[in-house]
Amino acid sequence: MLLKLLKREAARFVDNVRGSNPLDLPRGPRQSGTWSHADLEWIAAKARDVPGDFAEIGVFRGAAFRKVAVLARQQGKRAHAFDSFIGMNEPTSADGPTYPKGMFDVGGPDAFVHLMTTAGVERALYDVWPGYVPECFTQVPDSLRFSWAILDVDHYQPTVDGLRWLLSRINDGGILALDDYVVQNKGKLATRAIDEFLSINREFEKIALFNQHMILRKKTRS
Ligand SMILES: C[S@@+](CC[C@H](N)C(=O)[O-])C[C@H]1O[C@@H](n2cnc3c(N)ncnc32)[C@H](O)[C@@H]1O
Repeated sequence: MLLKLLKREAARFVDNVRGSNPLDLPRGPRQSGTWSHADLEWIAAKARDVPGDFAEIGVFRGAAFRKVAVLARQQGKRAHAFDSFIGMNEPTSADGPTYPKGMFDVGGPDAFVHLMTTAGVERALYDVWPGYVPECFTQVPDSLRFSWAILDVDHYQPTVDGLRWLLSRINDGGILALDDYVVQNKGKLATRAIDEFLSINREFEKIALFNQHMILRKKTRS
């Protein structure tokens, strides 16, 4: 039993050193393009001492959001789900055909809430902000701030708009977790938006890169 545990910890250490990731990053198994709940717990712990709610932009059926909502409650915070809830918008020339309009349609915000309720997530724990990015941001109070936001919308333009909107809304020390950072997609889709963001923005530092997720922390201003 002890030997097994030691072996597992040693393997995690080696994986993380190889990937230049923090040594406490959980070890797989991971499914490509999917947020593992162990990884979400690891990220949430980094946001514990930072004031502000949790947000996920691009929630689909809530596979990650159901965990995000529970982690938010554990820290006395609220969770916010942003999505069109009718799937992808029209792709542009920066996207290509991989994610056509309507892909990931869940049938509207009420259908999403139903999925969450079925998964045992209390409605009182979270807010739902329906609409395409950036229209879904227009009703959000100016005062809302985040200690952790996930951005996972695949296309180039909503990733640009999401990053722009989140920039000033994440508190110092807070976490920005980006999905879809794929080297083969350089020059297109979300990867292009993330590269452009990093090339002009010095407010965030990279703390991990694994499973197409890039995890950034907002630097604390002195
Ligand atoms: C890959 S799925 C997100 C998966 C989810 N984060 C998870 O872990 O299960 C992408 C989501 O982004 C949403 N989305 C994509 N483009 C959008 C846009 N322009 N405005 C609003 N939502 C968008 C889609 O509706 C879809 O639900």
